[in-house]
Amino acid sequence: MKYILSASILSADFANLKNEIAACEKAGVDWVHIDVMDGHFVPNLTMGPFIVETCHRITNMPLDCHLMIEKPENLVDAFIKAGASNITIHPENNPLILNTLARIKAAGCRAGIAINPSTPFEVLEPLIPFADLILVMTVNPGYSGQKFMPEVVEKIAKITAHAQKLPTPPIIEVDGGINSDTIPLVRDAGATAFVSASAIFHHAAGIAAGVEELRVSLT
Ligand code: DX5
Ligand code: ZN
Repeated sequence: MKYILSASILSADFANLKNEIAACEKAGVDWVHIDVMDGHFVPNLTMGPFIVETCHRITNMPLDCHLMIEKPENLVDAFIKAGASNITIHPENNPLILNTLARIKAAGCRAGIAINPSTPFEVLEPLIPFADLILVMTVNPGYSGQKFMPEVVEKIAKITAHAQKLPTPPIIEVDGGINSDTIPLVRDAGATAFVSASAIFHHAAGIAAGVEELRVSLT
């Protein structure tokens, strides 16, 4: 099984972004995860299409854009234009989600749905056939460096079981507190793509060592 590692640049050194992304690519990272926060949907304020466009110029890795914003329908076109490969939106407080997913797909991007730890499977279930990717949050969105919530693992297994019955199952990706101790738990529940910020960019021995440690714990 080829597992996907998506490096969240939320923990990168932005004064050295180009080199840090290059180091990720060299170490075997598959995707660059870009955490977009608007200070409303989540308390933190981070990056927008401008950073996506910058990443698009400095790497060929797919850009895995995670939108934690209100009214994502107003900004998806800007992210598409900036070079996003995956655009993942939340169902919480998002009445237009199906329409927005369809617009993302029509533009040739992967359409993703991210769910918060407290959002039950039942909210996601009717939306699954419309997604190319499901991003299961194992921390409350907003910040990197938070503690993994083991109580979400059961929901990952439930989503996987359901998704596997579909003709084209979505990718199951997990985000939040992923490190060498937690990655086997979510892999065993069915996830095949893993987001990590701190365990890659804040590894004491550097980015390559962080990526290697995650890969080893997946074997
Ligand atoms: C949290 C973000 C995550 C975060 C992960 O809201 O969606 O992508 O950067 O950070 P770590 O891997 O440090 O938990
Ligand atoms: Zn994220």
